[in-house]
Amino acid sequence: MNVLLLGSGGREHAMALALAKSPLLGTLFAAPGNPGIASVARLLPLDPDDHAAVIAACRAEKIDFVVVGPEAPLASGIIDALDAAGIKAFGPTKAAARLEASKGFTKALCAKHNIPTAAYGMFTTAVEARAYVAARGAPIVVKADGLAAGKGVTVAATVDEAYAAIDKIFGGAFGAAGASVVIEAVLEGEEVSFFALCDGRRAVPFASAQDHKRLGDGDTGPNTGGMGAYSPAPILDAAGEERVMAEIIQPTLDGMAAAGTPFKGVLFAGLMIGPDGPQLIEFNTRFGDPETQVMLPRLQDDFLALLLACAEGRMGTDRPRFSDEAALTIVLAAKGYPDAPRKGGLITGLEAAAGAHVIVTHAGTTRVGADLAANGGRVLNVTGLGATIAQARDRAYAAAEKIIWDDAYYRRDIGTRAKG
Ligand code: AMP
Ligand code: GLY
Repeated sequence: MNVLLLGSGGREHAMALALAKSPLLGTLFAAPGNPGIASVARLLPLDPDDHAAVIAACRAEKIDFVVVGPEAPLASGIIDALDAAGIKAFGPTKAAARLEASKGFTKALCAKHNIPTAAYGMFTTAVEARAYVAARGAPIVVKADGLAAGKGVTVAATVDEAYAAIDKIFGGAFGAAGASVVIEAVLEGEEVSFFALCDGRRAVPFASAQDHKRLGDGDTGPNTGGMGAYSPAPILDAAGEERVMAEIIQPTLDGMAAAGTPFKGVLFAGLMIGPDGPQLIEFNTRFGDPETQVMLPRLQDDFLALLLACAEGRMGTDRPRFSDEAALTIVLAAKGYPDAPRKGGLITGLEAAAGAHVIVTHAGTTRVGADLAANGGRVLNVTGLGATIAQARDRAYAAAEKIIWDDAYYRRDIGTRAKG
């Protein structure tokens, strides 16, 4: 079958490599893709948010199945549009994608179905929001309700910081995504990213990974899209995973189905593992970036077959199989990321960096003639595989050293706190 993958990041490059291994695959297309994805897919110069253009390309190229990488097209209803056009696709409908697109929607669902998460209030005016903060005190977490590319959340250490975050959101910094704010208690513990494949009724655990969201070593500096990850995540053991499935994932699926908006696709739970067990920080309705870059190289089953089973509502009960290897990804960002990443710098040495235990995936890269140049914030991902996280880490860092790019910035401490 012919498959179209939507997106252009490191996540999509990892997905493209996994899809390319499937015996079910005819031709793989990607839109818009990137120079790395081009090694395994035919790129179509399309905007994934332009539903009509995507549908036209599916018809022109005889595409049988569309796999959506990023959240924006899901939130704007690409799955509904493809469905109406009779084209099969992996991902949630617009109504089900609210689990990511509206934090208030998810908090209300959690409250209704007793899903463990931080206590919260939701407000549409700064006056009410400030009054809630004044009554609760700090530390406290302030979030824009809608999609804000990971930048709409402030973990405020002081009441004044919380007020400033509220004013920023209602001041329009996030556009329509900031029409409401969610204010919630700070959860204590260790964060982990957990992924479950869902077919509308059933869910099976996929895998877990640990992300490093802060820009600087030692988890300092601003939050980013993610600066590195490793998998598996030892913090979530088998018993913890069972609790996540029983207390968070299945009640969410049941609640969404009961509301007439069943969830199909991958449900990505950002969790805090604290003294009382796992609590939900937020849901995303797509694979994680860079988590995907550490999960998929370990997957032993057919990725395309798994995604198809979700989309067709016929997922089995067996969980996908993964190798016992550890994987660790370092994100190479451009200096100046996240505010003003430096673009245009030439990149060489990728062939020397890649090897039997190292995969280099592209994110914000572009071709300039025969050369490769930086063209985004997060630019490359270097993934090491090994018997232990320490070995995967050593291989990833040794490979990253071989990449020649003057503007590269990366954390030096990815995975250093992991056991194993
Ligand atoms: P979110 O976009 O909701 O995942 O939030 C981004 C990041 O902010 C999370 O990955 C956490 O590091 C942090 N965060 C969000 N909500 C909370 C919370 N209630 N308690 C502690 N940290 C939080
Ligand atoms: N790495 C976090 C995310 O994909 O949202």
